[in-house]
Amino acid sequence: MDHFDYRDGELYAEDLPVQEIASAVGTPFYCYSSATLIRHYKAFSDAMSGLDAKIYYAVKANSNVALVRLLAKQGAGADIVSGGELAIAQAAGVAPDNVVFSGVGKKREEMRAGLDAGIGQFNVESEAELEALSEVASGMGATAHIGIRLNPDVDAKTHAKITTGKAENKFGVSWPRARELYARAAELPGIKIKAVAVHIGSQITTLEPYELAYRRLLEMVDVLEQDGHDIGTLDLGGGLGIPYGAETPPTPAEYGEVVRRVFGKTNKKLGFEPGRVIVGNAGIVVSSLVYNKQSEDRRFVIIDAAMNDLIRPTLYDAKHDLVPVRLTNGPHSNADVVGPICESGDTFARNCELPELGEGELIAIRSAGAYGAVMASTYNARPMAPEVLVHGNSFSVIRKRKTIEDLIADDTIPDWLK
Ligand code: LLP
Repeated sequence: MDHFDYRDGELYAEDLPVQEIASAVGTPFYCYSSATLIRHYKAFSDAMSGLDAKIYYAVKANSNVALVRLLAKQGAGADIVSGGELAIAQAAGVAPDNVVFSGVGKKREEMRAGLDAGIGQFNVESEAELEALSEVASGMGATAHIGIRLNPDVDAKTHAKITTGKAENKFGVSWPRARELYARAAELPGIKIKAVAVHIGSQITTLEPYELAYRRLLEMVDVLEQDGHDIGTLDLGGGLGIPYGAETPPTPAEYGEVVRRVFGKTNKKLGFEPGRVIVGNAGIVVSSLVYNKQSEDRRFVIIDAAMNDLIRPTLYDAKHDLVPVRLTNGPHSNADVVGPICESGDTFARNCELPELGEGELIAIRSAGAYGAVMASTYNARPMAPEVLVHGNSFSVIRKRKTIEDLIADDTIPDWLK
């Protein structure tokens, strides 16, 4: 459930008409609901109540400092994948101990920054990374607390580009090599083993792959403990899917039941790294209709948001619901909703039922809170859209609209070309 509802035929974000925000900031823009964010965070943490569980919000899903801060205030830690996300977690006030650093390609300077900050855990994904981390940590006289991310070779049954736990994926250490790598970690200076981690993918809509991966993980933890390692924490990843349209993915509560079934009897601390399920349905993109265009057999609705603002439809064939901000009783028909970018892939929806709308009328793209603004670009020299956060009946601009001057400010013409 979210807090984007119609009142008297007008789309509201919490207690504020979306139209009012659009009049103030222009379109397109990202609009987030703080109440929805908090609600989703609570749904997830309630699902884990009674377990020794910690939630590390996956900053990659939406890294606006204001949102990360809002979640930190609810008690969330941060799952980060770069030095940039570390800085964001710090700016948002996440306690360093509540930060987990994931990712296959951490550079030495990023490791150093994490160690300097005193983060709680590094999730190591390869032998080379383990050696590098040991070198950096021992050189600083520091200790890196680590988990090793294992690849359970489980098919999460999601889009190929966001499945991460199959043997062919670049992520994690293969199952057969786990013992060897833990043994190596145990002898390396500057390294302290703390956890085992798995993450099998994103937008996961069935629970079976989780259960399979988690049971395998538990077996491996037994083996590692028999080898003499002290595994206090199990990092269970993120990935729970959300409804983009009519689909009904498992709820956090149902996911929590799987976790309890598998880990209920362990005395381990559990870590979770949800991103999308917290923030996905807490955000929309608001755009204006630029032109209506009728071809021989097709109605096109051209809006002022484009694939540079929200790339998910063209990159993952994702289907986001599109809705008019003002409902009408007038005639409806099917339309292709497209952006202005010079690619046919700049299409948000095909054959989407919409009322007839005039130029300047608003269309909202739903479920855009996760992997929306963070994946935006300036393709076609389109300045990045602003982000606003609604809180009850007020809103704040939490990232201002970029200008065309911003776009070209860092380009320089070499002397020989002047
Ligand atoms: N932990 C790790 C190690 C991850 O790689 C990810 C996501 C997460 C947690 C959070 O997963 P979530 O709960 O948000 O599903 N851009 C794609 C999604 C990429 C996900 C990558 N990893 C999209 O728009 O669908």
